[in-house]
Amino acid sequence: MIYDSILDTIGNTPVVKLNHIAPQKQTVFVKVESFNPMASVKDRLAIAIIDAAKKSGELKPGQTVIEATSGNTGIALAMVCAAKGHPFVATMVETFSIERRKIMKALGAKVILTPASERGSGMVKRAEELANKHGWFLSKQFENEANPRYHRNTTGPEILRDFAGRDLNFFVSGWGTGGTMTGAGEIIKLARPETQIVVAEPENAALLSGKDWSPHKIQGWTPDFIPKVLNKDIADKFVPVSDNESIEVAKKLAREEGIFTGISGGASLAACFKAASDAPENSTFCVMLPDTGERYLSSPLFEDITDESDEQWLSNALGA
Ligand SMILES: Cc1ncc(COP(=O)(O)O)c(C=O)c1O
Repeated sequence: MIYDSILDTIGNTPVVKLNHIAPQKQTVFVKVESFNPMASVKDRLAIAIIDAAKKSGELKPGQTVIEATSGNTGIALAMVCAAKGHPFVATMVETFSIERRKIMKALGAKVILTPASERGSGMVKRAEELANKHGWFLSKQFENEANPRYHRNTTGPEILRDFAGRDLNFFVSGWGTGGTMTGAGEIIKLARPETQIVVAEPENAALLSGKDWSPHKIQGWTPDFIPKVLNKDIADKFVPVSDNESIEVAKKLAREEGIFTGISGGASLAACFKAASDAPENSTFCVMLPDTGERYLSSPLFEDITDESDEQWLSNALGA
């Protein structure tokens, strides 16, 4: 297929059935957002925000764009800005993975790191200060209505189209800005009110469930505040998941289904498996997988994966 721009390849991601690790008598599909050009769901948010700001005149031709980002948004904005001719600067907490920083820089962006002790709100504050000082366009992923609107116009309708004529009992998503769960959740609920919206959260930072925030390893999920764009009322059920469960499920998905996702994809699927244990038999689930495992090679997800030759395995296991 021929496209006029890389930006035209955003969205319309595949929905794939799990054939080996779904709970017995349940059907689980995953929506694989790593099929977006920069391999995450955040490509949707980036094109949404930049197109809306250009249309309203808020973003001038050639103006610098800045955003506070856990990485995937920065990578997506770096791509969209490169394709549309805008310089891009990201502020980012120093603990987020090295791959993310390097990819942004490779796309021509500048990356400003903020201290881990200042958490998610530290990087947001720094981005605001820099935008004010230099007259840059701050894309405000946590507040910008273009974010959930794009999910209302694309992610939600894609799911409805793909499940037309089939059961869809549960839609499962985590939240970072809340754009996905809000936009897709609202549209799914509008068209199919019987579908339950399951919102997953880190168990030690389950803000929507009324718990306190503490640091967690599910990168991209649950900053230490509830974003403006997030519609909490759309959720039928909140499911907490631990860092370890998320990592284990992401690994299992890679090894037993050949589907390579990040920690948050493992977390969403872990939440699905928990919800499935209380769900009626023969329920159908659609689970968002926000990004690719390749973005986590230096993270706890693949801590046990070495780059050594498997010579030892050859002689021990196979006697060769
Ligand atoms: C890595 C990653 N990116 C993005 C998202 C979703 O983001 P948002 O709530 O901003 O739509 C998540 C959450 O599921 C995530 O884990």
